[in-house]
This record gives sequence, C-alpha cells and structure tokens, in this order.
Amino acid sequence: MARPPLLAATEMLMKPISIPLAVTLAISATGLQAADSEKGRKLHDAHCRACHEALMQGDPNLMYTRPDRQVHDRTALAKQTQRCAQNLGLGWSEENLNDVIGYLSEEFYKF
Ligand code: HEC
Repeated sequence: MARPPLLAATEMLMKPISIPLAVTLAISATGLQAADSEKGRKLHDAHCRACHEALMQGDPNLMYTRPDRQVHDRTALAKQTQRCAQNLGLGWSEENLNDVIGYLSEEFYKF
C-alpha cells in the first residue's frame, strides 16, 4: 500500500535536515569545537529559562539539577538542547546550539 503523499513528502523534507545536524551535534558534543559559554548563557536565559522556571515552580536551575533529571551524558544533553530549541522554532545555528550546550555542561551537568 502506498504511503499518503503528504507524509512521504514530509519525510523527504525532514531527512536531509535532521541527519547532518544530529551528526554535527554528536561531533560538537565530543568537544572538538570550543563553545562560548557566556554567549550560551545569554541565549539560554533569553529563550529557555522562563519555561523551565514555570515548570520547576520558580527555580529554573532545578530542571538540570533535580535528582530525576533525564540527561546523563553530553550526547543526551546535545539532543535535548536541540529538541527544545527545535520545538521553539528558534532556527539556531550549530554554533548557537554548541554555545548553549557548553554553558549547560559547564554550569550544571559537568560533562
Ligand atoms: C515551552 C517550555 C520549554 C522551553 C521554552 C524550553 N524547554 Fe527545555 N524542557 C522542557 C520540558 C517540558 C522538559 C522535560 C522535562 C522532563 O522530561 O521531565 C525540558 C527539559 C530540558 C532539558 C533536560 C533536563 C534534564 O532532565 O536533565 C534540557 C537540557 C533542556 N530542556 C534544554 C532546553 C533549552 C536549551 C531550551 C532553550 C532552547 C529549552 N530547554 C527551552 C520545556 C521547555
């Protein structure tokens, strides 16, 4: 049975975008590129902080420091940062993502 044309078209559109970005992030996540964590902090505070603050009843940092946090290594951090940024439609460059990943790692996750 043929796939619905719209779904097939969506898949074709998504693939070339998502795969190279995921690969690039995996490379950035190994620390080959230096992150500007001060720039990352500014981007984070402007776009990410408020929602986490609301979710964590007033303490945004708790999202990253709570005992049952979901992120346990740098690759997972890169993926979750990309996911949240994508959901928000921020259109962040690889450099922006890398800077925010660097900030979150330096400040909270320590990996
Ligand atoms: C509209 C709300 C919202 C915004 C804005 C948002 N997030 Fe999130 N974020 C969430 C939710 C919901 C979770 C998942 C909580 C859970 O799984 O318990 C989450 C989880 C995370 C985690 C994983 C925390 C852990 O458990 O270790 C990271 C990292 C993260 N977000 C990064 C970001 C970054 C970076 C941005 C800005 C680009 C951002 N988020 C913006 C809602 C948001």
